Formats: sequence, C-alpha cells, structure tokens
Amino acid sequence: MLELRNVVCRYGKVNALNDVSLTVEQGELVTIIGANGAGKSTTLKAISGLLNPAEGSIRFMGQDISKASAQQIISMGISHCPEGRRVFPQMTVHENLELGAYVCKDRGAVAGDIEKMYEAFPRLKERREQAAGTLSGGEQQMLAIARALMSRPKLIMFDEPSLGLAPNIVEKTFDIIRKVRESGTTVLMVEQNAFAALDMCDRAYLYESGRMTLQGTGQEMISDPHVRHAYLGG
Ligand SMILES: Nc1ncnc2c1ncn2[C@@H]1O[C@H](COP(=O)(O)OP(=O)(O)O)[C@@H](O)[C@H]1O
Ligand SMILES: [Mg+2]
Repeated sequence: MLELRNVVCRYGKVNALNDVSLTVEQGELVTIIGANGAGKSTTLKAISGLLNPAEGSIRFMGQDISKASAQQIISMGISHCPEGRRVFPQMTVHENLELGAYVCKDRGAVAGDIEKMYEAFPRLKERREQAAGTLSGGEQQMLAIARALMSRPKLIMFDEPSLGLAPNIVEKTFDIIRKVRESGTTVLMVEQNAFAALDMCDRAYLYESGRMTLQGTGQEMISDPHVRHAYLGG
C-alpha cells in the first residue's frame, strides 16, 4: 500500500532522514520506534506532503506521491494525526470534526460521519458545542483522532498518540487505535512508548539517528537484545 524507497529528508543542510526504506501493507498496523530526534516525525511529514523528500520515492497505492501536495495526499486517502493533539482551540468540537472532512463535498455524508464519531466517542458528543481548547488532554486526543478519521482515510498515521496523557487515558487511546485498525483502516504509528507499540503492532521499524537500523515483527523486536537493552529498559 505504502512504500518508501531510499528516502532522504533535509532541514537546510541537516539530514534528518538518511536513506530510509519501509513498507506498509493494506490492513497492517506498523510502528516506528526510536529515540527523540531519530527522524520518526519527519517520516510522517514526508508521507503526508508537509515536507518534500530531497531524494528517494514515496508510493501510495501504486502512485508516486513524493511531490504531491498535502491536500492531494489527503484526498488520496492518507490522514495524519500530528504530534501534540493539534485541534483548533477556539473552535467547537463539532466545527473541528467538520474541518476534518474538508476534502468531502457531500455535506449529508459529513453529517452522517460526525454522528458515527459521536457514537464511537460519546464524550465528544457531550461536549460538541464546547471550544476544543477547554477539553482535557485525553479528550483533545480523542478529538484529534476523530478529526483525522473524518476524511475517511485508507491509511491513518499517528504521531506519538500517548505523549503527555495519563496512564489510564493512554490505554484508552491505544484501544481506539486497535479499533480503527480492526475496522479496516491501515495504521502507521510513531511511538516513544516502545513496549506498548511493539506489543500491538504487526511489524515495526527501529530508527537511530535518521537511519532505519532494524525491522521485524512486533514480537521479534520485543525479544531483540539491542531493542530490549536500549528501548525496553531490560
Ligand atoms: N523544522 C525543523 N528544522 C530543523 N531541524 C529539524 C526540524 N524538525 C526536526 N528537525 C531535526 O530533524 C531530526 C529528526 O527530527 P524528528 O523527525 O522530529 O525526530 P523524532 O520525531 O524521531 O523525534 C532531529 O535532529 C531534529 O532536530
Ligand atoms: Mg517526533
């Protein structure tokens, strides 16, 4: 479904991503783990068109998207739930959800999708007229996820979904991500919580200093001595 081949990304003269190749098959939950600054977010930004790779290619469902705009990429079915739960704080919950569907012109379908989100996230329904900025961290994360689902993505990307959330909310957030995948949406997730991510994924990639240094199934990665020592505290 998604294939990155020898991708290099630079900020100015600094290489943030060096020769990264990875794939995501339809229906998979794939995760990228690695320390702060390893290039995980840069990878998601390159896929969603926020950043153009300096070298290499990115293909999605048979098409080269390396030079497509962020807008085109959303229309093709890739949704990006960015780091830090970026909801529009002054807008209501409902308005945030409507904005998530801006690529969809059929207002009736949008209204139906919002109702589905309210069924899945009753908390958001209760708070539908509230400004998003007044929600708790966990509620904002739910809103960010629901908004990313509003474009009806084939592939959804989560950047550090558990960051800064209380432990019980972290569990809930991972449950939601599992459900998204069970509903048939392919998932690419970046997480610092390496154990949780490896435990729930099909396959994983490890990044170190802008390079992909190891890959395997979640269980293979969990039992790898280097991963255990450097990322799982054991
Ligand atoms: N906007 C930016 N300008 C310059 N350097 C950046 C920018 N964003 C990230 N970087 C650098 O690129 C590297 C990879 O960053 P990033 O992809 O955010 O890592 P991660 O998500 O794994 O923590 C880091 O060295 C970081 O400092
Ligand atoms: Mg990051």
